Amino acid sequence: MNEIRNLINITDLSTEEIEHLVTVADDIMAHPEAYQDMCAHKKLATLFFEPSTRTRLSFTAAMMDLGGNVLGFADANSSSATKGESVADTVTMAGCYADIIAMRHPKEGAPVVAARRTTVPIINAGDGGHFHPTQTLTDLLTIHRKKSRFSHLTIGLCGDLMFGRTVHSLIEAMSRYEDVHFILISPPELRLPDYMKEMMDQKGVLWEECEKLEDAIPKLDILYMTRVQKERFFNEADYIRLKDSYILTRKKLGPAKADMIIMHPLPRVNEIQVEVDDDPRACYFYQALCGKYIRMALILYLLGLK
Ligand code: CP
Repeated sequence: MNEIRNLINITDLSTEEIEHLVTVADDIMAHPEAYQDMCAHKKLATLFFEPSTRTRLSFTAAMMDLGGNVLGFADANSSSATKGESVADTVTMAGCYADIIAMRHPKEGAPVVAARRTTVPIINAGDGGHFHPTQTLTDLLTIHRKKSRFSHLTIGLCGDLMFGRTVHSLIEAMSRYEDVHFILISPPELRLPDYMKEMMDQKGVLWEECEKLEDAIPKLDILYMTRVQKERFFNEADYIRLKDSYILTRKKLGPAKADMIIMHPLPRVNEIQVEVDDDPRACYFYQALCGKYIRMALILYLLGLK
């Protein structure tokens, strides 16, 4: 029997596998018609216990563009989780009806529990403040297409670096490459957790912390903005105090490099003003588009079809 491949954390993929997925996604973008029937008669279950727009819709579009079908739920309240069914049982059920599962859950570690019981590949589509590996693959495809390299980059990560699961997974992935320097821009309360800093130190990755976005902007090749996530706070007063810590405006982009790119996993709230959308360096909507293509590549890979 073939071993089931799951994607729980970006560390489940080797660098070669990540680069293979990026190459396949590139090819799908160039020749979508060559892939349109590759998942004929296959089904993807999307089990979303937490809200999503991009991740769920891009997984759905990815499977549809591969010629497959999609079933699932977008809200835990419409599943038997409301009756007390465990995640492990829900996943076992989904494996009876689908060939592959994409699951989002508010509890960190839920996909690990699910992976112990699954009979089909499971993709972690985000677990609490923990990991979001397919967002990282999306980010990597965007960086590849916009910067044509993963090495020799100064990356500013701005906003909620404590709870930002997309940030944690991106640091994990980009720390594999040569001469990548992170500038961690956050208020003291939302700094990157120590275990992430220790991981970078062990790998010899350069990083520095800074509180003012304006101080970092001129040095950056990539500015990765994040939302201060209301749903991760225990105390509303803290959220209100911190939510507008960083607001990117056209004026603040003045000293930025001409070829810097602005990324954001989205959704945004106030942290990037709408006036920035017209700047040629803004690529967060393109990033969301890349999400569909890299998820197509991932589905094919985990199903052993490419
Ligand atoms: N980037 C991202 O995960 O967006 P959604 O929460 O809308 O899926």
